[in-house]
Amino acid sequence: MDSDPGIDDAVAISTALTDPQLELVLITTVAGNVTVDKTTKNALTLVDFFQKDVPVAMGATDPLIKKFEDAARIHGESGMAGYDFPAPTSKPLAKSAVLALRDALMASKKPITLIPTGAYTNIALLLREYPEVKPKIKQIIAMGGSLGRGNMTSAAEFNVFTDPHAAKIMYNAGIPLVMVGLDVTLKGRISDETTAKLGELGRAGKMLHDIIGKDFDHDETGTAIHDLQTLFYLECPEAFETKDYWVDIITEGPAVGETVADIRAAYHDGKTNAKVCVDIDTKAFNDWLLHKVKDNMQ
Ligand code: BDR
Ligand code: CA
Repeated sequence: MDSDPGIDDAVAISTALTDPQLELVLITTVAGNVTVDKTTKNALTLVDFFQKDVPVAMGATDPLIKKFEDAARIHGESGMAGYDFPAPTSKPLAKSAVLALRDALMASKKPITLIPTGAYTNIALLLREYPEVKPKIKQIIAMGGSLGRGNMTSAAEFNVFTDPHAAKIMYNAGIPLVMVGLDVTLKGRISDETTAKLGELGRAGKMLHDIIGKDFDHDETGTAIHDLQTLFYLECPEAFETKDYWVDIITEGPAVGETVADIRAAYHDGKTNAKVCVDIDTKAFNDWLLHKVKDNMQ
């Protein structure tokens, strides 16, 4: 997982760390919701909270070209507001995220799924500096983008907006890519009822309940825990409706960070580079999260 915890990243990391169906090989961090020193501290905090032995490697401090803008106003100054975590005692690896990703991929006998839930800066640097890893990547399931409206600007979703040049590299890399964008993450919300139930599910459930809180991306149907849907897709792809499109990334101008799908298959001659999630079974998503917490975090 390559992430910028971040409240919804934290829910995703917590789920992945504790899921016996998954083998979480490495967590890498990137600047996004907050600065990379904070996202790294938050990833280590979660590893310690669950007493797991998953390595964390610190990644890019800034996007490839664009100026960095955080989202601390949404995730709190620490990036994981709402719960009083003890300071982590685990330390990040001495090597960079990009090198750690390269080494983990090259050392693995079977291809590995990459799950980026922040800006794609580390992934782009990995693909640019070490293209030999490509056959070792099974697929990329990335939170980000939108066929419709944005959430950072009217055109752009936050992760793609943060580093559109990195997104362009990732989308053009020729690796199987699933776009888990706002089209599904703003629709498939975690209901207030589910969040309330989490609060009754022991120490981990209470932690998740408290960081989700009431202010983070909330409307009358619940909270958009965007990043968690990548893991839900990994385990339950049948709960999503997808469409294959070629997706282009706008890297400058008023629509910077927009993901433009070639819906008419006209511009790219019918070729596609992404499986785009366009609908989700919201109830199944809520039930899945409650089960994960009940079964794996008690
Ligand atoms: C994405 O932006 C971040 O603020 C969230 O963590 C999520 O990855 C949603 O647009
Ligand atoms: Ca994120």
